[in-house]
Amino acid sequence: MSTPEKNETSAPELPRPCAAIIMAAGLGTRMRSELVKVLHPVAGRPMICYPVRAALLAGATRVIVVVGHQRKQVADALEQAFPNDPVELAVQDQPLGTAHAVSCALPTLGDFVGDVLILSGDVPNLQVSLLTNLLAMPMALRFVSMLPDDAGEYGRVVRDATTSLPLRIVEFRDATPEERQLREVNAGLYCIDSTLLTETLKTLGRDNAQGEYYLTDLVARASGKGMQVGTIPLKGDAAHDVLGVNDRLELSMAETRMQGTLRRALMRSGVTMLCPERTYLHDGVMVGPDTVLEPDVSLLGATRIGAACRIDQGSRLTDTVVGDAVSVFAYSHIDSTIIETGCQVGPFARLREGTILRENAKVGNFVETKKTELGEGAKASHLSYLGDATIGARANIGAGTITCNYDGTKKHRTVIGAGAFIGSDTQLVAPVEVGEGAYVGAGTTVCEDVPPGALAITRAPRRTIEGWVKRKR
Ligand code: UD1
Ligand code: CA
Repeated sequence: MSTPEKNETSAPELPRPCAAIIMAAGLGTRMRSELVKVLHPVAGRPMICYPVRAALLAGATRVIVVVGHQRKQVADALEQAFPNDPVELAVQDQPLGTAHAVSCALPTLGDFVGDVLILSGDVPNLQVSLLTNLLAMPMALRFVSMLPDDAGEYGRVVRDATTSLPLRIVEFRDATPEERQLREVNAGLYCIDSTLLTETLKTLGRDNAQGEYYLTDLVARASGKGMQVGTIPLKGDAAHDVLGVNDRLELSMAETRMQGTLRRALMRSGVTMLCPERTYLHDGVMVGPDTVLEPDVSLLGATRIGAACRIDQGSRLTDTVVGDAVSVFAYSHIDSTIIETGCQVGPFARLREGTILRENAKVGNFVETKKTELGEGAKASHLSYLGDATIGARANIGAGTITCNYDGTKKHRTVIGAGAFIGSDTQLVAPVEVGEGAYVGAGTTVCEDVPPGALAITRAPRRTIEGWVKRKR
C-alpha cells in the first residue's frame, strides 16, 4: 500500500514496544454481500488496509490480523497492500466473540511484551493520532469511547458514580433499561498491556445474552482488580472517525468521510477543486500544486498528477502518471498511461493501458490508443485507433487513421518514424513501418513498409461520369 505519509515520517519512538491485533474474522452479514465485509473498498482500498496502516504508522512493530471468513482473499489483499511490512495472520475458525478472536492471535503474538492495540478491521477512518494518544496513556488498559447522538446498540460504558472512572462495559443486549440510557458507548478500540491481556483472556466466560466471549469484559476485570482504566472519549465530529462499517449505508458514510479527508489534504497542498464534493479520489493519489480539477473528475488507483495541470469535467484517470502543465479536456478516459509534461488530451479521448505520450504530444477527440507511444510533439488530433504502435517525434497522424494491429490471432506492431505525415483515413496493416519523414496519402491502405522520405499512396483512379445523376432519375 503506497503510504506517502509513511515514507516521510518513520514510526514514532514509543515508551514501550507495541503490537496490534486487528479483528477481521466476521462475515459482516448486514452487508448482504458475497464479499467479506473488510474487503469492501473505501477510497479504492479494501477497508482492512486502513486500520493495519494506522497501526503501523502509530509504531506497531507487528500487526496480527485475525481472519475467518474468506481468509485466503483477506490474506491476498494484505499481502498485496503490505508486501514489506510486519503483517501476520491468525485464524479464528468459529466466530465465538471478540475475546475469542483476540485469543486466536495470542499464539502468533508469542512472548511479545509491551502494549497491544486491539482494533477492528471495519473502521477505515481511524486516525493515527488517536492510536498515538492511546499509546501515550500510562494505564494498563485504555479504550476509546464516544458520545454519539444516537447510542444505537453499542456497548454502554458504566462509570463509578463518585469517581466517574470506568467500571465495565455492558453490551446492549445484556443491558438493563437504565444502562441503555447511558450515552457514552464503546468504540471498540483498545490498548492493553500484554501480560494483563493474556492473563485475563483465559478467565473470561460466555455467560451472556449472545453466548459469546466478550472482549469488553476486560474492563470489569481490570477495574475489579482496582486498576484504573483509561478512556479517550470522542465527541462530535471526532467520533465519526471511529464509526465501524456494518452495512452499505455505513459504508457510504465512511466513503464520504474519507473523500472529505482526501480532498482537504489535496486542497491544502495547493490543488484547486472547482466543486470538491464532485471530485472522487482514491487513497494514495497525488496531485501537484496549481492543478485545477473540474467537477466529476475521478482520480483512481496509483494516479499521480504534476503541477499546473487542468483535468476537465468528467475525466477519469486510473493508474496514470501525468507530468506538469498537461491539459486533459473533458470526458477523457485514461488507464495505465504515462503523459509527459505539456501534453494535451481529449476531449473524449480514450487512452488505454500502455500508452505513453512524450512531452508536448497531443491526442485529440475520439482517439483511442493502446500500448502505443507518441513521441515528443507528435499529434493525433481526431478520430483514430492507434494500437501497438510506436510513433516518432513530431509525426502527424491524420483523422481516421487506423492501425490494423490484429490479424484475428495475433497482435502486430506499427512503427512510424519521426516527422512522418499520415494522411487522413489511412489504414496501417501491421506489422508495418513508415520511415522517418515519409508521407502517406489520404485514404491509403499501407501493407508494406514505406521507406524514409517516400510518399506512399494507394488510390484507385477516379472516374467522373458527367450528367450521371440526371440520367439516373
Ligand atoms: C463490539 C463491542 C461493543 C462496541 C462495538 C463497537 C464486544 C463484545 N462488543 O460490538 O461494545 O460498542 O464493537 O463497534 O466486543 N469479530 C471477530 N470474531 C468474532 C467476533 C467479532 O473477528 O468472533 C470482529 C468482527 O469482524 C468485527 C469486530 O470483531 O470486525 C467487532 O465485532 P462486532 O460483531 O461488530 O462487534 P459488536 O457486536 O458490534
Ligand atoms: Ca460492529
